[in-house]
Amino acid sequence: MDKLECLFCQKSFPLDIFFPFCPLCQEPLLCPDPLSNKPGIPKAFPTIKNWYSWLPLSTYNPYLSLGEGRSPLIRCGNLLPSNELPPVFFKNESFNPTASFKDRGTALAIQKAVSLGINKIGTVSTGNMAASTAAYGAKARITTYLLLKEDTSDQKARTPAVFGPKIFKVKADYGKLFTESYSLGKKHGIYFMNSVDPFRIEGYKITGFEIFRQLNNKAPDFIFVPLSSGGHLIGLIRAFQNLGHSGTLRKFPVFVGVQAEGCAPLVRAFERSESRFRRIPEGKTVAHSISNPDPPGGNIVLKLIQKNKGVLVSVSDEEILEAQKILAVKEGINCLPASAASLAGFFKLKTSGRIKKNHISVLIITGSGLKKLTPTDTSSDPCLSISLRKLDTVFSNERKIY
Ligand SMILES: Cc1ncc(COP(=O)(O)O)c(C=O)c1O
Ligand SMILES: [Zn+2]
Repeated sequence: MDKLECLFCQKSFPLDIFFPFCPLCQEPLLCPDPLSNKPGIPKAFPTIKNWYSWLPLSTYNPYLSLGEGRSPLIRCGNLLPSNELPPVFFKNESFNPTASFKDRGTALAIQKAVSLGINKIGTVSTGNMAASTAAYGAKARITTYLLLKEDTSDQKARTPAVFGPKIFKVKADYGKLFTESYSLGKKHGIYFMNSVDPFRIEGYKITGFEIFRQLNNKAPDFIFVPLSSGGHLIGLIRAFQNLGHSGTLRKFPVFVGVQAEGCAPLVRAFERSESRFRRIPEGKTVAHSISNPDPPGGNIVLKLIQKNKGVLVSVSDEEILEAQKILAVKEGINCLPASAASLAGFFKLKTSGRIKKNHISVLIITGSGLKKLTPTDTSSDPCLSISLRKLDTVFSNERKIY
């Protein structure tokens, strides 16, 4: 029988897919480390199926996949003058089927759902997780319920709506909605694969395995991850823990979780060396996808970061928007403001002198800027209106410059 474990009281519990929380500590439960037999890592650049022995799956149904994962690791060249630039890579998760890292988690959770004979899934989200869950629900021919906050704009609800889920805008505090979704799910047989779902988190491990493979079986020195509920960062850290337990890893990377200053409850606790965070009344940042004032995986993040000598930093909205612009203009990467927090965090550590010339950094680009229908910068019209005749004159003048 499947078991889940609590990192706090170290006890294990039989899997209750509808309520994966420790009854004693109220913290999210995690899957046990599957690597008792220490398998070798796959040679090629594999799909979920090839990482099978590293994942908590007893069956794999290829029909449920939307081709997630295997995102590129792109070497950056233009961020800083070349004499100041250590090796920096972008792991671009925009390449996933619904253009964010969430697909990796949903892909694994949907395998679990179908193997357990579940035919209703759901999630509490306003953005990327909603679209991802609805897409995989459609592929699996499962009814999908999305619970959104009452004030979610119609525009934001439209992206997941294309996949045909049942969408509800609920009059309730977001934290309460998250907790209540589990009671409702249990009562009505709906598997709420929310942000810290144990199987979703296992799906995020594959990003870590891929980075290791793409760097020729080596861990980078630093991995920068935008941080909100904590599910993504927990999954990435667990990937390297698994690699460590298998005897394949020489050095554990320094994980850097990056929050926005306007919503940084975990950074606040980290800076005070506290083992538990305190929720804040409300998140205020342009990086909406990382604006969770009461992150459900927060205490696990603190525990893992403290144990593995990681770092949590916060960055201002100005730094996030500047990083977003630099990524687009200098590196050709269009990402969400939340994703640009990785680069803003990198600049912060670089300025502090923590990153040396020979340190390899991987920055996770969590989601595509194409998802945001309204551009962040609306200050001016980016086009110049011009007659055809004048265009010829402009081009001729430009030629003289070169
Ligand atoms: C684009 C993007 N980046 C980062 C995050 C943060 O991930 P997590 O909530 O797992 O910490 C999210 C979460 O929704 C997201 O949508
Ligand atoms: Zn516990």
